[in-house]
Amino acid sequence: MLSKTSGPIGVFDSGFGGLTILKEFVKRLPQYNYLYLGDNARTPYGGRSFNVVYQYTLQSVNWLFSQNCQLVILACNTASAKALRTIQQNDLPHIDASRRVLGVIRPSAEAVGNLTVSQNVGVLGTTGTIVSESYPIEIQKLFPDIKTYQQACPLWVSLVENEEFNNSGADYFIEKDINLLLSQCKNIDAIILGCTHYPLIINSIRKFVPQNIKLVSQDTIVAKSLADYLIRHPEMENRCSKSGTIKFFTTDVADVFSAKGKIFYGKEITAKQIAL
Ligand code: DGL
Repeated sequence: MLSKTSGPIGVFDSGFGGLTILKEFVKRLPQYNYLYLGDNARTPYGGRSFNVVYQYTLQSVNWLFSQNCQLVILACNTASAKALRTIQQNDLPHIDASRRVLGVIRPSAEAVGNLTVSQNVGVLGTTGTIVSESYPIEIQKLFPDIKTYQQACPLWVSLVENEEFNNSGADYFIEKDINLLLSQCKNIDAIILGCTHYPLIINSIRKFVPQNIKLVSQDTIVAKSLADYLIRHPEMENRCSKSGTIKFFTTDVADVFSAKGKIFYGKEITAKQIAL
């Protein structure tokens, strides 16, 4: 039986990437308690099937619920694309209908729709996110006149994870994928950086995207969206504990997570290992 008292805001990612989102949550909403879970033992999710990503994500959400999180953010595009809807519609009613799980796709779709003038937008993401068509579907629902063009960037996550992103080798792949996106339509004027790793390579991305094209970076967008959500939902806001604590958990070796996580979070962190 799950407790209905207050608890930390759960932040989930397949690995390190969600730390870029958590960093902005803490900057914008420092009063809340946060519990981060990275499924590093099974990352990357980007190339995995729908069912596998759904099962892994559900296990992770259930663990965060067991830690008393009343609200969980899937700070991972691949998990949001492949698991969020099923968890919201099929699983939550059985687990605890009063808890909430939110993702990163809708806030990013809203942001790009409000930025574009030409009504032609681009999306860059992992293969899983792009193949799921989640962005075009969400954008179409919110802004029926907008045309969405997509490009999978299968190597970018590895470049970031291997700290190989500030060099000409990385630039080659970044430029190549951006050109593949831009060649689909001359009038794209806004691009969603649809992966949690991309804030770390935003300067390299900017080098190859003309200045007139706006970049939607999810860290700030999702943090603003969470702040708005908590204002609109005082019943959930009351169930989010507030003493400013941040705890980090990983499904793989804690020391490795702590060392590498610093690159994404921008500060020293200490993680604990858990088993799902
Ligand atoms: N965090 C994932 C995302 O935002 C990328 C990493 C992965 O492939 O697991 O899509």
